[in-house]
Amino acid sequence: MNHFTYKNGLLFCEDIGVTEIAALVQTPFYLYSQATLQRHFTAFDSGFDGTEHLTCFAVKACSNIAILNLFAQMGGGADIVSGGELLRAMKAGISPKKIIYSGVGKTRAEMREALYAGILMFNLESPQELDRLQEVAAELDTRARVAFRINPDVDPKTHAYISTGLAKNKFGIPVDEAGKEYLRARDMENIEIIGVSCHIGSQLTQVDPFIAALRKLKVFISELVQEGIKIKYLDLGGGVGITYDDEQPPHPHDYARAVRAELSDLDCTLILEPGRVITGNAGILVTEVQYTKSNSGGEKVKRFVIVDAAMNDLTRPSLYGSYHEVIPVREDTNPTQEVDIVGPICETGDFFARDRMMPVTAQGDLLAVMSCGAYGFTMSSNYNSRPRAAEVLVAGDRFQIIREREEFDDLIRGESLSRL
Ligand code: LLP
Repeated sequence: MNHFTYKNGLLFCEDIGVTEIAALVQTPFYLYSQATLQRHFTAFDSGFDGTEHLTCFAVKACSNIAILNLFAQMGGGADIVSGGELLRAMKAGISPKKIIYSGVGKTRAEMREALYAGILMFNLESPQELDRLQEVAAELDTRARVAFRINPDVDPKTHAYISTGLAKNKFGIPVDEAGKEYLRARDMENIEIIGVSCHIGSQLTQVDPFIAALRKLKVFISELVQEGIKIKYLDLGGGVGITYDDEQPPHPHDYARAVRAELSDLDCTLILEPGRVITGNAGILVTEVQYTKSNSGGEKVKRFVIVDAAMNDLTRPSLYGSYHEVIPVREDTNPTQEVDIVGPICETGDFFARDRMMPVTAQGDLLAVMSCGAYGFTMSSNYNSRPRAAEVLVAGDRFQIIREREEFDDLIRGESLSRL
């Protein structure tokens, strides 16, 4: 359930008409509903009431500091994967004691920053990374709290690009090689083992793969206990999917119930790293129709709706072939026609929808690309030298620009004419 609904024929975000915001902000822009963000955070987090747990929002999904700050106020932590995300989490007021650092390629500088900040835990993904962290922690004369990310070789049954828990994926350490690394880590002076982690993929629509991974982790943890290694934190990663089209992902409470049932007697604090399930359906991309045209001559007449947003603003359709619903901001019951909704970028892959039945649209109409709150703005770029869109947050009948639209000067910041 989200707060983007039609009222008297106009699309509203909570209590403000999208047209009203567009008139002031110009298009394209990302629009988030605070009530939806809060509702989704609570829906996820409350599923684990009664279980010692920490919900660390995956910053990569939606990293605006105003939004991270909302989660901080609700007791949330952060799952980060870079020095930049560390900065965002800290600026947003997330306690370092609730920050988890994931990712296969942490640099020395990034490790230093995170140690300096005093984050809760590094999720290590390779033997070399352990060696490097020991060195960096020794230089700073501190101890790094760690978990290893286990690759459980479980099929998450999702898009190949966002599957991370299969043996052939680059992530984590195979479960049968991880024991050796825990023993090595135990003997390192500047390393403190506190956890075991995994993250098997994103946009999962079934609970079973999560449970299959959890079972493997439980067996592994019991082996560690036999070696005298105590595990305080079990990090299950993120991955719960959302409905973009007709997917039927588990309700967060059903996911939580299944996980809690499987945990039973395990004496660990559970860490969760949800991203998409919290912000995905709490944000939309608003864009204006620039032109409509038809190209005949092929097998069939193709109708194109050319909008002012493009694959640089929202890359998911181009990159993964993802479905995003597109609806007119002015509710329309006109007869529908089949169109491609495309952007101005010079690539055929620059589209939001293909062969989609849509109400007839005209120049100047506003369209809303739905379910853009996760991996939308955060994956945007300046391709074709397009300034990145503005981000706007609505709370009730008020709104705030939480990220200004980039200006042309931003595009060339740091560049210079050659003096060679
Ligand atoms: N934890 C780790 C270590 C991750 O790598 C990810 C996502 C998450 C948590 C959050 O997963 P979520 O709950 O959002 O599924 N750009 C792709 C998704 C990439 C996901 C990468 N990792 C997309 O647009 O579908």
